[in-house]
Amino acid sequence: MVILGISITHDGTLSVIRDGEHIFSMAEERMNRIKAYIGFPFQVLRYVVKKGIIEPKKVDRVVVSSSVFLKEWAFTYAFQLTEKKKYYDLQNQEKPTDFFIDDEEYLQIYNADDCKKYVDKKIKGLLHEVGIEAPIEYVNHHMAHAASAYYASGHKKALAITMDGEGDLLSATVNICDNGQIERISATADRDSAGYLYSEVTRACGFKISRHEGKITGLAAYGNYKKYEECFDKLVEVKNGKLAYVNPVGYKITDRIQNKLLKLVGKTRYVGAAELIRRCGELSNEDLAASIQHLLEKKIVEIATYWVKKTNIRDVVLAGGVFANVKFNQYISEIPGVNSIFIFPDMGDGGNAYGAAAYSYYKEQKLEPARIKNVFFGPEFSNEYIGKMLEKHKNQVQYHLSEDVYKETAYLVSENKIIGWFQGRMEYGPRALGNRSIIASPVDATINKWLNDRMKRTEFMPFAPSCLYEHADTLFEIPKESLKFPAQFMTITFKMKEEWAKKAPAVSHVDQTARPQLVTKEGNLKFYKVLKEYHKITGLPLFINTSFNVHEEPIVRKPEEGLKTLLSGVIDYFCVGDYICKLKNS
Ligand SMILES: [Fe+2]
Repeated sequence: MVILGISITHDGTLSVIRDGEHIFSMAEERMNRIKAYIGFPFQVLRYVVKKGIIEPKKVDRVVVSSSVFLKEWAFTYAFQLTEKKKYYDLQNQEKPTDFFIDDEEYLQIYNADDCKKYVDKKIKGLLHEVGIEAPIEYVNHHMAHAASAYYASGHKKALAITMDGEGDLLSATVNICDNGQIERISATADRDSAGYLYSEVTRACGFKISRHEGKITGLAAYGNYKKYEECFDKLVEVKNGKLAYVNPVGYKITDRIQNKLLKLVGKTRYVGAAELIRRCGELSNEDLAASIQHLLEKKIVEIATYWVKKTNIRDVVLAGGVFANVKFNQYISEIPGVNSIFIFPDMGDGGNAYGAAAYSYYKEQKLEPARIKNVFFGPEFSNEYIGKMLEKHKNQVQYHLSEDVYKETAYLVSENKIIGWFQGRMEYGPRALGNRSIIASPVDATINKWLNDRMKRTEFMPFAPSCLYEHADTLFEIPKESLKFPAQFMTITFKMKEEWAKKAPAVSHVDQTARPQLVTKEGNLKFYKVLKEYHKITGLPLFINTSFNVHEEPIVRKPEEGLKTLLSGVIDYFCVGDYICKLKNS
């Protein structure tokens, strides 16, 4: 049985599961090179057909992770489902003056029913273009989040908590998952969204919402939350295991947050989000970040504690953009009574492509979930392909086919070279886990400044380390053995041991935490091998692993994109397949 899962919101993605096995996933951004692309995975759909990953006539059904259709959302759906248009980031940019969209039908949507019919017709049309005539199912956005976390967790029984900005009018849900089935026991409306509150602060600090929240998490460690804790505590409360804005008024979410803050600081004039929040005691960006981070850490822990106690289920699985926050995850894992946590590696809306497909499959099959082994569900390229590509650039690039790419690469890292490491199938989700990674030595604390400058990035979190799994306890304080599983996907932080924070200062944050990827032979053999060789040479069982991209570009998909990074001087060596490349005369 072949099921396609499709998410059309942020990070539009297509996933394929065959007889329950997750065989392919890729976000549209990796094809069209528009970071965090909002919309249908148009190019990915054509790609899976062209590459023979699916046979159109053998697709049994297509499952979409959206299920609410409103007249007010007519334009958003038209935007998401029409490829030919002037694209803009719906959440961060004004509509461009030269905006166009190759669709007029959405103007005829007068009610929810029209909207549903419109969406269905558009999706049917897109599938028809590639020869797919299979039936389409629509799964609730938060149900898809819950399903992604549960069906990849390997638990027979688990408590699934989802939390994001908003999806299908909800911002959070709690679900009991047992024996392959999911039952929702609580839902929080979009108006009480933890994700949007965090995003509002992200915007106030001058960053893009739904994109740069991670910068706020990093920045928070430099600030002081205590100064205005009392003031922030008045913003939200937890009632019956749900977040609730205190005295919510009927404005849209951002207005409500602004007005709440306005009252707190005794101002009555609307002055815009950034200025207003800053007036909440003239907070610096650092203090503001620390305040919101601390507030939500407390509230999210309170929510998780409530449901763990109420259901007595101690294995917690998480998905939704809020759980991209590695600190929230750490604190949830430390709740007394919690045995384990698992965060779906593509915790944002891209994960809903798999989630929707898995939900549909398991609902029918009634099987117990299997545990995800890795996230390598994207395209790969042969040495032959790579060799031909390099041949075209032989005037600029010096390269050779290595007999032992692991040993050679490890040696180069030990010589403080910056390596673009490109191997096997591309990762699914936001993190590079050793197939499209930039790797470097962890010993130079200043690298966070100069390498980020070189890559044109602003980050407040240090680079993350990839570590040999068997050395995890030497490097970190890991409170529960079970947490080594989510740590294979860089989804949780741990305290670094004093000695190692000193030996590898580039990967230790100011609060002495790190966000490791624990690398196993089974999870990623090639990456394990290069790390093992590096350990042999230096005695260090860890090195820096940051995603293979520059500035605001998506992670590289094909070798040509990696090579561009070498040609522009961002990396010193490009280790692609068994080839090792550097610029001539460097
Ligand atoms: Fe979501």
